[in-house]
Order: sequence, then C-alpha cells, then structure tokens
Amino acid sequence: MKKWLTKWRLLSLFALMTLVLAGCGEPFLSALQPAGEVAQMQYDLMMLSIIVMLVVIAVVAVIFIYVVIKFRRRKGEEDKIPEQVEGNHKLEIIWTVIPILLLLVLAVPLVSATFKLGNVNVMDKENRKPEDALVINVRAHLYWWEFEYPDYGVITSQDLYVPTKEKVYFNLLGADVKHAFWIPAVGGKLDTNTDNTNRFWLKFDQEKPSDGSEYFYGKCAELCGPSHALMDFKVKALPRAEFDQWIDKMKNTQAVAATDKAKQGEQLFQEKSCIGCHAVNPVDERPEAARTAPNLATFGERAKIAGILDNDEENIRKWLKDPEAIKPGNKMTNTYPKLNDEELDALTEYLQGLKVEK
Ligand code: CUA
Repeated sequence: MKKWLTKWRLLSLFALMTLVLAGCGEPFLSALQPAGEVAQMQYDLMMLSIIVMLVVIAVVAVIFIYVVIKFRRRKGEEDKIPEQVEGNHKLEIIWTVIPILLLLVLAVPLVSATFKLGNVNVMDKENRKPEDALVINVRAHLYWWEFEYPDYGVITSQDLYVPTKEKVYFNLLGADVKHAFWIPAVGGKLDTNTDNTNRFWLKFDQEKPSDGSEYFYGKCAELCGPSHALMDFKVKALPRAEFDQWIDKMKNTQAVAATDKAKQGEQLFQEKSCIGCHAVNPVDERPEAARTAPNLATFGERAKIAGILDNDEENIRKWLKDPEAIKPGNKMTNTYPKLNDEELDALTEYLQGLKVEK
C-alpha cells in the first residue's frame, strides 16, 4: 500500500511539472519557436549543444551498463576479483581527443554566429541613409520602453513597430538602471546599460507569431525592481510598405480631442500637469519630455495599458485611479491629485482618442 502511494505521488508530481512546462511554449513568447534569423541561429546553436550532450550521455550510459553487467558479482564467484588494469595509452588518448573534438564542434559555429550577430558595421557607415539600415534607439525606463526612430524624428513607447524581412538595428540604452531587451521569439537578449550603448540587429521573418496572435512579446530580462516582471512591450511587424505608411502617419499626427468630453479630458491633461511628463505627439518638439514618461501619441491603439492590461475603458480608469496597485514602484504614482469619477471619464475618453490610424 505504502509503495503504491509513493508511486502515485511521484506520478502526480510529474503530471504537474508537465502542465507547468507546457506554459513555456506560447509562440508569441517562446524562444523555441523562432520567428526570425537571429532566433533561428540561437535555436540551432541550442539544438547542436543538446545533441552533443545527448550523444555523450548515451555513450557513457551504454558503457556504464555494459560494465555493470559484465563485471557484476556472480553466484559462486563471490570472492573473484577481475584482472586489474592500470594505464592504457590508447584509451587515454581517445578520451582526451574526443572532448577536444566535441568542443570544436561546439565552438566553431558558436564563435562564427557571435561575430555575425554582433556585426553592426552599417550603423557606423559614413553618411548612412535611412534606406541603408533602419536604426531604432531603445531606452529602457522603470518600467516602460521608449522607441525612437532617429532617421524620421519619431518617438513612441510601449508598442515597437518594425518592418519584416530586413535587418533592424538597435541602439540599446538604460535611462535609470540596468534593464535587458529581449523579444524571445525573435532574438536577444542584450543589456540596456546606463553608461554605454549596446548594439545589435534582429530580423523579423513573420508578421505574426505562428499561432495567429496579433503581436510578439518583448520582455525586460534583467531584474530591475518590484515591477520587473511587468515591464513588457509588444512588437508589431509590418511589411515594409505598411511600415513606411505608419511612419508617415506618425510624422503627420497631431493630438486632437474629438468630443466635448475628450476636450474636457484634454484640459485636465494639462491642468493636472500630465503634459509635463507625457508627450502626446510622435514628433515632439521636446524630446526630453518624451523621455520622462511614455509618449502617449498612439495610446488609443496600443495593444495593452501599462504593458500588461487589455486596452479598454475599464482598465484605463483602473490605471489612472491607482497605478501603484497595478505596477508597484512606477513613477506616475503620487504625481497628480486623486481624480473624481467625472474627471476619470473625461481623461479616459481623451486618451482613447489618441490614435495615429484615423
Ligand atoms: Cu526592467 Cu527588469
């Protein structure tokens, strides 16, 4: 009975682990379902090293089992000691050379991939034109992401727009503490440091994750504070022509309040000094302002509120009412007076109207 119970316990533990591990496979968030050249290279390297390890484990296990069986103590020969062998040149050479070969098998592709992934020479090209390479400056803040397209003078936040099927080059910087930029399905990760700019490129082969999700997920991959796990961004990959259209729209958008209630919200936005930190136009005259807090120009069409909540009226109100409850340690908490219901309605309507796609 007792034995049966132990078995049952072990079985349920394994079942639970299977369930937990099954959560790691979402295509919009999984490094195991690569959606770009970089992620594919990283995946292939991972597979290569796993295969090498499995071969080593298999060979060692087979030899081990063979030895255990061959030299086991047999009935009637309890005192027999097998012939003792010490030192064998041939064997010693073999088991020194094999690991060296295995290391070479791992090292050659790894080093060549490292150089390929780190090649950002085109960013330094004299008189680089926007057509030569798309460059995006990423600044990571507690707990949000700023994306600047320096060739177009466009700044946005939280939703990263990129063209598909071409190399996109990134300058990565941390605005306050060290964060790390990671889009699991497409590649990474690389630290965003405060004292130097890290650079790399990514390629987005697919417009959408293979499960049909609307966008890829980006994560902060460096423990940076209480809301580190909530420091998400979304990636929208568009064919080049659509991406160009998006840039055009971004350059020509002005925040306008369409309804009376939205106008009231706009007024509150200025009176409660939201405007002091948040820019509402993608091309802002004051880039410093866009750097203090997320640029809200595309807020109405953002994938998520604060990176984590579905973008709907209820969640915007929730966020404005008590940001601390949603993202502990964020910098918006206590920067404005409590809003009453009417003010919340007006601000929500104004924010929902901030869109580039009209
Ligand atoms: Cu930013 Cu973790």
